[in-house]
Amino acid sequence: MENLKRLFDNNRALVEQITRDDPDFFSRRASKQEPHFLFIGCADSRVPIETLTGVAPGEMFVHRNIANQVLPSDLNLLSVLQYAVEVLDVKHVIVCGHHQCGGVRAAMGEANHGLVDFWLAGIRDSIQRHKEEIDAYATDQAKFDRLVELNVLRQVFNLARTPIVQNAWKRGRRPLLHGIVYDLKDGLLRELVLAVDGPDKVRALLEANRRSVGD
Ligand code: CO
Repeated sequence: MENLKRLFDNNRALVEQITRDDPDFFSRRASKQEPHFLFIGCADSRVPIETLTGVAPGEMFVHRNIANQVLPSDLNLLSVLQYAVEVLDVKHVIVCGHHQCGGVRAAMGEANHGLVDFWLAGIRDSIQRHKEEIDAYATDQAKFDRLVELNVLRQVFNLARTPIVQNAWKRGRRPLLHGIVYDLKDGLLRELVLAVDGPDKVRALLEANRRSVGD
């Protein structure tokens, strides 16, 4: 219970600190949210994106799952995406992977992990598509790091293919899609692909990463 108490104590201290400078901070946000970003990231506890990027409450709409997957059958993700794009009108959708991702590592191994193996099937597919490239890396760590990146690129492509994003682009080229990776070792976010804003950029993404995104 001591750990749980810490959460409430920290929360009270944070609210006091914020409202000391800005007494209406929370009441202003209670009536509406106008986030510019939808973040799709891994559920890993070491990737607290709001803390890492310094955004304030109300700035970022967030969806997290194991290994930052964008699966066309995931009603949860699609609902979040539709609300973010069609109602909140976010400018940016960011897919963020991270090095040392346990989900990606699980997909690389032979062991049986139960239900989560179904979830990770897309990553296993990426491993097959990229087998030649991945096998060429000298160390297991290098293979692992590259697969984390390929997984992000694959999910950006999946995002671009959803009817939600396709329809939004037909209406006016929002949102921009971005793929980034978080490096746990130095705490920095790194760009993989930025500002995918329509079919042309998707084609370029496809060309640059043909084996990862398939067709
Ligand atoms: Co992860």
